[in-house]
Order: sequence, then C-alpha cells, then structure tokens
Amino acid sequence: MTTDIVRVFAPAKVNLFLHVGDKRADGFHPLESLAVFVHIGDVLTLERSSELSLRIEGPFAEGLSSDGDNLVLKAARALNANAAITLTKNLPIASGIGGGSADAAAALRGLNELWSLNRSNLHEVAADLGSDVPVCIRGKAAWMEGRGDILTPVSVPALSLVLVNPRVNVSTADVFRTLKSRSGLGLRLGLSDDPLRFLMQTKNDLEAPARNLQPVIGEVLSAFRRLPDVLLARMSGSGATCFGIFKDDASAAHAAQRLSAANPGWWVRAAKTIQ
Ligand code: C5P
Repeated sequence: MTTDIVRVFAPAKVNLFLHVGDKRADGFHPLESLAVFVHIGDVLTLERSSELSLRIEGPFAEGLSSDGDNLVLKAARALNANAAITLTKNLPIASGIGGGSADAAAALRGLNELWSLNRSNLHEVAADLGSDVPVCIRGKAAWMEGRGDILTPVSVPALSLVLVNPRVNVSTADVFRTLKSRSGLGLRLGLSDDPLRFLMQTKNDLEAPARNLQPVIGEVLSAFRRLPDVLLARMSGSGATCFGIFKDDASAAHAAQRLSAANPGWWVRAAKTIQ
C-alpha cells in the first residue's frame, strides 16, 4: 500500500552540556555534548506531489521565510524528492533547541517514508545540511562529538525540564565567532548513578559569548536560579533558549507557571524528555 501523506514530529533538542575544542581546519569547532529531546516540537505534514512546496503556519511562522533558503526545502532538494509540505512552527526560531535542524531532519525522514526511498545515507545527507541535523534524525538522547555529527546512543534518565526563550534570536555562527574560553575535550560520560552530579562538572561553553550578544540570557538564568526547587539551570546549544531541570513534573509545571506569570513576553514550556 502506498502512503500519500506522512506526518512527522520534529522534537526540540536540548544540549544538557556543550564543551568546545580548538577550531578545526574546516572552520568548525570540535565539540562534546549530551543532547536529549523533549515532547515539544514542530510538526511536518508531507503530501505526495510532483512539485516541491512549503507552507508555514503556527505561532512562530512569521519569523521564518519559506523561500529556497529554508532548511526543509534544502533537505528535500538534497534527496531530490518533491512534496507539498506544511510546517507547523511551534518552536522559536534560531533558539538553540534544534528548530531548523529538527525540521530538516523531519523532512528527510518524512520524504524517505513518503516515497519509500530506503536511503541508507540519511546521516551523511543530514550532516551536509547542518551540524545538528544528524542528532535530530535520531531524535533520542545521544552523545555528540566531531562538529556534532558523530553520535553515540546513550541512555539518560527521564528529566522534568522547563524551557525558556526570551524571544530573541541568536546566530550560531556569531556565537562561535565570539567564543573566547573553551573547556576542551576528553570528558567521559558517567551518568549512571547520578546524572545531576555529572552535569554539575560540565558547562555550556557557548553561554558566555551568547550572553554577550544577548544579555537577556543572563536574566533568564537568574530567574531560573531564584526558583527554590531548580536543580540546574543552563543555556542550550548556541542559545538563547535556557532550560531548568526540576525534581519532578509537578515542580516543573509550577516553575513554568511562575516564570510565565512574571515574564509575559517570554516563551515558557514545561517539557519531559523523550525516552
Ligand atoms: O552546521 P551549522 O550550519 O549549524 O553551523 C552554523 C555555524 O556555526 C557554522 O558555520 C560555524 O561557523 C559554527 N559552528 C562551529 N562548530 C560547530 C558547529 C557550528 O564553528 N561544531
């Protein structure tokens, strides 16, 4: 039976930590990161068509253009596959939680299924589209190395998170360009007994340069740290989205309510990790 329409969820990615090494000859920075995914994301609907088209709807549709630069269209062209695609944009744009990369990964997965392409090289196609696209194809917790494209599946205990984006865009290239201090590489993953203890020894190296570009990121982190029951507060990816880890879903929901009430302009969501 052929499928005429495919719906794909594009979950947000959260970097629980992100360490950077010295810039490589190809201009990218080697990194080590632990990425998890949450039950919040964009949605792509792909319908069989002889032409390629993209319609964008949803709360963050306005900030995004559906022209040739859109990563969803780039993904379709990379596979040489057409479809009438609708993207429901629920995630803030250029925000350090995947977004465009998650959409591109969802387009690759959706087109692969829609046309039964059986492409075995999706990982390589994904890496050509962006450093974070391969991990978004996986859509589950992974240890990231290389420029983000070398992945090892890991098991991370379920986490109750709150995500906050202060509604400012940050360019990943600008953050890397202004990065001064790097933790370097060589960390060994030791999550088994207590993930929090492991994470406490780590940081996000991109937090300082992103804060310099958008000082409101510091305000978000301070707001998290003022909450009595936050276990860890940190920025994800190249920002500006920050996350807090809470002991359970109820305290995450309560924290999200408080942050939202005190900062009506911010995008605030309680989110559970995908296992
Ligand atoms: O691969 P992606 O398009 O997401 O990267 C955007 C920019 O971020 C790159 O052009 C590069 O300047 C920077 N970057 C980097 N090292 C990485 C990932 C991204 O320097 N590992």
